[in-house]
Amino acid sequence: MAEVLDGLSQQQKSVSPKFFYDERGSRLFDEITRLPEYYVTSTELEILREHGAEMASYIGEGAALIELGIGSPEKARRLLDHLPDLGWYVPVDISESALDRATRELRAAYPELEIRPICTDFTRPLALAGLDDVSKRVLFYPGSTIGNLDPEAASAFLARLRHTHLQPGDGLLLGGDLQKDIAVVEAAYDDAAGVTAAFNKNLLLHLNRRFEGDFDPGRFDHVAFYNAELGRIEMHLRSRQDQVVTLGGRSFHFLEGETLHTESSYKYTTKRMQTLAGGAGYCQERFWTDRRRYFGVWYFSAC
Ligand code: TRP
Repeated sequence: MAEVLDGLSQQQKSVSPKFFYDERGSRLFDEITRLPEYYVTSTELEILREHGAEMASYIGEGAALIELGIGSPEKARRLLDHLPDLGWYVPVDISESALDRATRELRAAYPELEIRPICTDFTRPLALAGLDDVSKRVLFYPGSTIGNLDPEAASAFLARLRHTHLQPGDGLLLGGDLQKDIAVVEAAYDDAAGVTAAFNKNLLLHLNRRFEGDFDPGRFDHVAFYNAELGRIEMHLRSRQDQVVTLGGRSFHFLEGETLHTESSYKYTTKRMQTLAGGAGYCQERFWTDRRRYFGVWYFSAC
């Protein structure tokens, strides 16, 4: 709660994007991934479908494949289909229910596969003890979640994974959204049907429930705009009027037009991603993309 109140007290008000994902928020995000405008998920899946076999050859037999944040098991399946001799599949997620659902689905689809789910916040060190008798470890970090971190934090996160969990020769299979026509990106984060707006505003309802607040989502507009200088799309909630909101026993004043920043999503060039990973202790082995070059999947080895 201190973190939330602190974010609301800054000059540019902000809230951590982790508050998007209550039950309703997770459902709305799932809906977003199927919107025609939201090319991110469908394009990554298309790349995995097309190149999953080759990606699997980089992972190799007897490896431990560790997935950081399992939204839907659909992506892992595009790899597991080509990995009959995988040592371990280790899905990691903060949500117990999402992890259970995915594990059950994958156990049914791959009865021979050794699955070891870990329910934790993957920004903390993972308990991977006992996974030493594998040919190598490969971290799978899809979805461009890396893009939700500022570049310095993204680099620090990749470096920590490298030093905490990987040995030279281990791997990182990383998904990242690429820079493209701004109109395409902006439409993806502000769809015509309004699902994205509902998703963004749902964060206010989640905050109300968690911290006894009185945010009225009707008094905020969803806004998403591309910040070309920083190479990121920013999502905000903009106050429609001058208002005072109570949360956690404190009052917060919003001017008309003032915004609450809820998330940024960085879009990378291949060069910038390579620099980022290179600085964090990885060497690029292979890069795959789609026909429109909207999304990228990289295989890096720890070096
Ligand atoms: N992590 C997702 C992304 O960057 C989250 C997301 C999709 C999102 N659409 C949104 C966040 C709209 C806020 C508003 O692509």
